[in-house]
Amino acid sequence: MQHDQAKAAAARAALKHIEPDTIVGIGSGSTVHHFIEALSMQRGHIEGAVATSVETKRRLEAADIPVYDLNSVDGVPVYVDGADEVDPSGACLKGGGGALTQEKIVAAVAERWICIVDESKCVQRLGACPLAIEVIESARSYVARALVVLGMNPVYREGFITDNGHIILDAYDLPVQPLIELEQTLNQITGVVCHGLFAARRADQVIVGHAEGHTHLLLP
Ligand code: 5RP
Repeated sequence: MQHDQAKAAAARAALKHIEPDTIVGIGSGSTVHHFIEALSMQRGHIEGAVATSVETKRRLEAADIPVYDLNSVDGVPVYVDGADEVDPSGACLKGGGGALTQEKIVAAVAERWICIVDESKCVQRLGACPLAIEVIESARSYVARALVVLGMNPVYREGFITDNGHIILDAYDLPVQPLIELEQTLNQITGVVCHGLFAARRADQVIVGHAEGHTHLLLP
């Protein structure tokens, strides 16, 4: 409940950074649900949104916010999304909700990424949470073995299929090495569709919400 109030505070604060009549990229997860609710109260304020998951699209449509396909827009000036962990440089672990691939695509397109989190998500070093890795099902064992070679401990996310029709391996024990290097190493494993380490493209701004209702900027 306290986390929920903190998430809502971060979401409301993000609204102040959204210019009128723009296309906004919208991430996934409970913090983003608060942001969609806040946006819906300002109906007509933005031109529309690009969604990163089926659930986000459903919520945007329910709020009467026009949803555009990413391929049909000229650009995404701003992207708002949460994270499972964020470090002081804006690098994130994402994918707790399994929408990491679309999130990484929209983050890549976006000119600016505003990350909204409650205070429990702020860490000095990423890795307490597992790293979500979206994998082609037939490559599950191969990818798991490759992760073990890197020193990681992958666990199959039982009963979960992503919006893209793939499985998730949650990998514990993130190796201690430069994050961008690790991101690239993981990108190169055949069978990995995408993973939830957002380091090369990290958040530009991080708004941290507190249960008492105030916020602070971890990254201005
Ligand atoms: C979904 C994500 C979410 O941003 C992350 O899991 C945080 O979720 P929540 O806002 O519910 O705490 O990466 O893939």
